[in-house]
Amino acid sequence: MIEFIQTTKVYGRSDRAALDHLNLKVGDGCVYGFLGPNGAGKTTAIRLLTGALRATEGQVLVNGIDVGKEPVRAKKLIGFVPDSQEMYDKLTGWEYLNFMADLYGVSREDRIRRGKKYLEKFEMAEAAGSRISSYSRGMKQKIASIGALIHNPPVWVLDEPMVGLDPRAAFLLKEEMTNRAKEGATVFFSTHVLEVAEKLCDRVGIINKGKLLTEGTPEELQQKTGDASLEEVFLEMTGTDTAAEA
Ligand SMILES: Nc1ncnc2c1ncn2[C@@H]1O[C@H](COP(=O)(O)OP(=O)(O)OP(=O)(O)O)[C@@H](O)[C@H]1O
Ligand SMILES: [Mg+2]
Repeated sequence: MIEFIQTTKVYGRSDRAALDHLNLKVGDGCVYGFLGPNGAGKTTAIRLLTGALRATEGQVLVNGIDVGKEPVRAKKLIGFVPDSQEMYDKLTGWEYLNFMADLYGVSREDRIRRGKKYLEKFEMAEAAGSRISSYSRGMKQKIASIGALIHNPPVWVLDEPMVGLDPRAAFLLKEEMTNRAKEGATVFFSTHVLEVAEKLCDRVGIINKGKLLTEGTPEELQQKTGDASLEEVFLEMTGTDTAAEA
């Protein structure tokens, strides 16, 4: 479970909050899509959630644990796939997975079992012995996703996870996001791909200029606005009303 309570972030001396009093609760077993235009505050919210940033005001709770007050306990509950894969290039895939497993105190048995399962699932078993520096962008994204699952976290957080993935890899990732949620995990991700959000998410939130504009199931949002698709809802809500012209 994830809970943002009045969560606010003001960077440096900026006179505008990048995230402005966000209130949002995401339950167990939910795939949640966080939508918004460039600069809306999605990555900021995710960095507050993963403990990479401190909130200026308000809190973020992960399974009831305050990320700001008990960052180590909270971070153990999270698997995080960031939006850029600047990772340990000199390690092989398996070395990276071992590194992540050590970080989270995963037993030898569990890391081998989970590592093998996900390497096969994401069609990375053959590449796992090669250095990450030789991987394509999509392969880096995949190994980062596997690394984030190696400790079987109850909360899986992904920032723009579909970027750089080919259709098959994107399909496999979406399938795993659904699987994790079915097993009771909370899956929280940001995306610009509205068709993905519409099909994949149990609930979505639309954020613009740091403020949450609306949230609910994709169907609820369409009903609320009378729009036919999530794309129309998004364009209307975020003020770029080109849908009518299209
Ligand atoms: N390190 C930083 N220092 C100062 N301002 C920042 C910093 N990171 C982000 N911002 C500002 O905060 C706002 C929100 O940025 P954020 O990266 O959270 O947006 P986003 O929704 O993830 O956008 P995108 O879709 O482009 O990834 C923007 O106005 C951005 O310029
Ligand atoms: Mg971002």
